Amino acid sequence: MEKMKVGLIGCGNISSIYFENCTTFEHFELVGCADLDFKRTKAQAERFNVKAYTIEEILEDKEIEVIVNLTIPKAHAQVCMQVLQANKHVFTEKPLTVTREEGIQLIKLAEEKNLRIGSAPDTFLGGGIQTAIHLINQNEIGTPIGVTASMMSRGHEHWHPNPDFYYENGGGPMFDMGPYYLTALVSMLGPIKRIASSARISFPKRTITAGQNPRTLTVHTPTHISGIIDFESGVMGNMTTSFDIFGGSTLPKIEVYGEKGTMLVPDPNTFDGPVLIRKRDDHQFNQVPLTHRYTKNSRGIGLADMIEAIQQKRNHRANETLAYHVLDAMHGFLDASREGAYYHLNSTCEKPEAFPLHYQFPTKKEKML
Ligand SMILES: NC(=O)c1ccc[n+]([C@@H]2O[C@H](COP(=O)([O-])OP(=O)(O)OC[C@H]3O[C@@H](n4cnc5c(N)ncnc54)[C@H](O)[C@@H]3O)[C@@H](O)[C@H]2O)c1
Repeated sequence: MEKMKVGLIGCGNISSIYFENCTTFEHFELVGCADLDFKRTKAQAERFNVKAYTIEEILEDKEIEVIVNLTIPKAHAQVCMQVLQANKHVFTEKPLTVTREEGIQLIKLAEEKNLRIGSAPDTFLGGGIQTAIHLINQNEIGTPIGVTASMMSRGHEHWHPNPDFYYENGGGPMFDMGPYYLTALVSMLGPIKRIASSARISFPKRTITAGQNPRTLTVHTPTHISGIIDFESGVMGNMTTSFDIFGGSTLPKIEVYGEKGTMLVPDPNTFDGPVLIRKRDDHQFNQVPLTHRYTKNSRGIGLADMIEAIQQKRNHRANETLAYHVLDAMHGFLDASREGAYYHLNSTCEKPEAFPLHYQFPTKKEKML
């Protein structure tokens, strides 16, 4: 099979791990990059030995069939649209888009053009969450009854010198971290039916202590959001995402309660384990050996899966219906709080198929992830 050629737009912070990981796969090749800021393009192109393009050039290069979009969230829709218009498949960082309307437009265009859209996060394809999915599918904890998820943090202004976007619409803990949690929940337990929620801005002003000159920013989006999730399957869940926790937290990231036992699921913002299970008659939680590969920072495996899926003419796992359902749910938390009523999701998706056990993409031997 001929290697597919891939280009990358958005040469910022997260791009280095994509450049590194993409060199491990045999079924595609990352050949070039572009950014609004050509200095960044050149720096990453030199560092990773790929071609430096302008945005127009990379979109016009007919040899490139797939673009990875690593721009900031508010540019995701526009860049994905340009890529699809240029007749290329696109894999974008999370969230799919900022608004639901943008997401719908993208999906419609991709359908018309028979092109793929993939979207991060792909952490749910890592060894940790894939093992959890496998164990649920194998009925290890019995039929799931409930789930709890907690993303408790103190926000980003103590380490990020320009954290303003985290406190604007399309930011906050829900749009920043919600994609990891909700994608993991949906890939384990299936699609969501309705959401109830309360959301607040606890600190209308926050002081940025990272960087040389402390300054204050104004918060425009809820930073503490707690909600109830009803899944289509009947599983009930609760989830809190917060940037307002300054005393730390001992809550688990995700726990799933089944008829036969409880499963402790690893941090969905990582690829690794551990996965622990405690069954009815156990006196403690026991760690379960991971059944799947990709436990290091394997950002790019969602892209690798999408490209293999194009080549094998099958569905890809980190796909647009999953990403749109998660986007719909994230807005649902804020809508439900604002309206004081359940938000009934307008979208659904298939539970993405789990990888076969120990699955590995075609990989260069010396560069195993
Ligand atoms: N940094 C992280 O740890 C991290 C982790 C996971 C996911 N992400 C996601 O990755 C994406 C990028 O994050 P980042 O931290 O690398 O951001 P960044 O600000 O460091 O880099 C974004 C880059 O995109 C470029 N850009 C912006 N708009 C553009 C446009 N219209 N056309 C072309 N280039 C454009 C910018 O010039 C910049 O170089 C975001 O969607 C974020 O949610 C980041």
